[in-house]
Amino acid sequence: MSLAYQPMTMVELAGHLSRQPDEKIRWKHVWEFLEEYRIAEPSALCLVSGLDVDEAALGDTPAHWQGSQHGSTAFPQEIFFLLCGSALGDVFGWATQQDGRIMHDVLPIKGHEHYELGSNSLQHLSWHTEDAFHPCRGDYVALMCLKNPDQVETVVCDAADHPAVLTAWELPGQSTVADRDRLFESIWTVEPGAVRDAARACAQVAQQLGHPEGAALLYDLADEPAAPPVELVQATSLLNRVVAYVDQWA
Ligand SMILES: [Fe+2]
Repeated sequence: MSLAYQPMTMVELAGHLSRQPDEKIRWKHVWEFLEEYRIAEPSALCLVSGLDVDEAALGDTPAHWQGSQHGSTAFPQEIFFLLCGSALGDVFGWATQQDGRIMHDVLPIKGHEHYELGSNSLQHLSWHTEDAFHPCRGDYVALMCLKNPDQVETVVCDAADHPAVLTAWELPGQSTVADRDRLFESIWTVEPGAVRDAARACAQVAQQLGHPEGAALLYDLADEPAAPPVELVQATSLLNRVVAYVDQWA
């Protein structure tokens, strides 16, 4: 049986792909680190850095993701990235996104400059939970940066200990007003007990409407919430800014 058909562990595969002994040692450390992270998950984010990227060899950024997978100059980095993702779980793609590719190209596209999409280039892309609409969304999202000439930062928020609920209802008497012009009144709180009650109510409604995820969520929400680590006044101030920002662009 040739080498190509023998089963390999991730460490063996990484070693097989490496040319130098010290490269094999580095790969091994990366896999061990990712394995430890996957099992213990001590934080919401892990960072792998130090991969050599020859920007000159990469050449120009493709103008569009369509067709960019053919003859990619970033193929070695893409293999590394895929192996890292595979160490954390099963990589998969969505049929409706980038032709089902499991690795997406996030690049600026002409005409998308001001879109609220990863392909924009002239505006801030708001925080979002990736594929939040789907019950089988990925446990992890992996990002690999190949070029960053402007030193743009990636901002991640792990807010498990910062509960917040924001809700709104339509003001009465607007039946003749177009949907997008209707006024809503909003209310929000960062008080942990109230946030937990609101979450339980939503999960209960989901369950009553026949969504099995509701029951699992109610189980997760059974415990009383922990006290927030920050002062409620500070948390209120932060959410005030968030709501004002959303209001400004809505
Ligand atoms: Fe995204």
